[in-house]
Amino acid sequence: MNKLSVISGKSSEDLARKLSKKIKANLVKSEIKVFPDGESKITLIGKISKKKSVVVQSMYPPVDTNLVQALSLITKAKENSSEVVVVIPYMGYARQDREFLPGEIVTMKVLGKLFKSAGASKIIVVDIHSSIGLKHFSIKTKNVTAIPDLVGFFKKLSLKNPLIVSPDQGGKERAKEFAKEFNSDYIALEKTRDRKTGKVEIKTKNLEVKNRDLILVDDIISTGGSIIKATQFLKKQKCKRIYVACTHALLMNDAEKKIKKAGVTSIISTNTIPGKTSKVDISKTIAKAIM
Ligand code: R5P
Repeated sequence: MNKLSVISGKSSEDLARKLSKKIKANLVKSEIKVFPDGESKITLIGKISKKKSVVVQSMYPPVDTNLVQALSLITKAKENSSEVVVVIPYMGYARQDREFLPGEIVTMKVLGKLFKSAGASKIIVVDIHSSIGLKHFSIKTKNVTAIPDLVGFFKKLSLKNPLIVSPDQGGKERAKEFAKEFNSDYIALEKTRDRKTGKVEIKTKNLEVKNRDLILVDDIISTGGSIIKATQFLKKQKCKRIYVACTHALLMNDAEKKIKKAGVTSIISTNTIPGKTSKVDISKTIAKAIM
């Protein structure tokens, strides 16, 4: 069997199915049994190509379980295919890419070793938190962006004098890229986060957002803390509606409810993490990176 195979991990079933259609690959599904102690038993349904297989498994929570499942799928793929491309739509641990405080372990380094030893030839990720993370990998890597896909969604809305806003300086380039694609202006708020307590503050002054619709752009929403702080701040400046565009909506606990309560009209994310807000499909962008 020489056709390309897409091996679908449980955390990315819909995306893997869409991707397999786009790249005309046969789809190999995985059946998972999680035992009472938390161990996963994976059974693959279908034949794996001898030539090349593409493993698709996102690493949203439960992060470690999804990681072990990804490594297991890669190992099995490598037993059959000479080339194994691994798509990790949401790369867990991407924020642990450097030693911020003395003694901290850079988990991205550990992941680099694990993916390589499992048999990955190349890793494709989407909007990784920082490119520093991938520097710890010695195999080929590609970081694709979901920004054009997100912009495509927002172009269909009729917004009033829209302005793109990054909730922090770290996301300035992302906001700039979004604004360029969307053909609008952008700003980046000045946010500070205490590395020990996690407390976030915004210090920006003299904003011209009155009566404008805003799109807050971020890579990840986890607890919602950054978006809530930015929303509360922007609402005080009398802006009109606030939309949120993000690639990876983890939305832990009741983050979505809290974000809406703070005054956000709608949260739009991609299917790197499937859920209520993942209205933007990125399978076409991933397909381009594979072919
Ligand atoms: C921070 O640098 C990231 O780009 C996100 O803004 C952050 O990870 C979001 O986390 P949370 O939703 O918990 O504020």
